[in-house]
Amino acid sequence: MKTIAIISQKGGAGKTTLAVHLAVCAHLAGHRTAIVDLDPQATARKWSDKRKAEPEVVGDQAERLPFLLEAARNNHADFLVIDTAPNADRASLIAARAADLILIPCRPAAFDLDAIEATCDLASLARKPAWVLLSSAPVRSPLVEESRLGLESQGRLVAPHALHQRVAFSHSVIDGRTAVEFEPFGKAATEIQDIYKWACGQMGMPTRLHASEPAGRKSA
Ligand SMILES: Nc1ncnc2c1ncn2[C@@H]1O[C@H](COP(=O)(O)OP(=O)(O)OP(=O)(O)O)[C@@H](O)[C@H]1O
Ligand SMILES: [Mg+2]
Repeated sequence: MKTIAIISQKGGAGKTTLAVHLAVCAHLAGHRTAIVDLDPQATARKWSDKRKAEPEVVGDQAERLPFLLEAARNNHADFLVIDTAPNADRASLIAARAADLILIPCRPAAFDLDAIEATCDLASLARKPAWVLLSSAPVRSPLVEESRLGLESQGRLVAPHALHQRVAFSHSVIDGRTAVEFEPFGKAATEIQDIYKWACGQMGMPTRLHASEPAGRKSA
């Protein structure tokens, strides 16, 4: 089982948007997938209530994460996405420590970039691979490249793909879908699939479940 923790101390960075989109990509690719929602705002749980379909979303407190991880393994889950609350140092650190890969969504804007140090410090405490993912980026703006260069010059790892500000990301979730279901051939769908494939590569997880693999098999 592979686990991604999505953390950012800054509110509205795009954590839940990224969490539900990555989880649906994995689910549609045949992986047994679940989301752990550690945010008391319960945004991912409310999205799931509207969706009424997989992937499953489980809400709990960060202290319960070890039990949730064990339950997911016992259920032969392949892929877990942990969504976290903003301004939640301890919970974010617990999530980060449990992860194979940490993603830190960040808008390419001055206030957001200024605030990223606190989240990157948490990620380094966890000693897990952590990447900043530029999110809600304005389309056709030099801000993305400028932000990437600025972050890299501070020694941050920046994911090679960005999520741009696209209506499909915000509209699709209204009724419990994601951009890949709302507009399968749209630019938002392509962007999240690129990020999903890249994240799989980072974790050594196959993008797609092997077609010949029987259902109910044990995961790695
Ligand atoms: N790439 C995007 N394109 C368009 N809208 C986006 C994008 N990413 C996020 N949004 C919108 O921005 C808002 C904040 O996103 P989201 O809830 O994912 O952030 P968050 O980091 O989870 O927030 P919080 O810190 O409150 O948990 C939402 O209205 C969401 O629909
Ligand atoms: Mg959220």
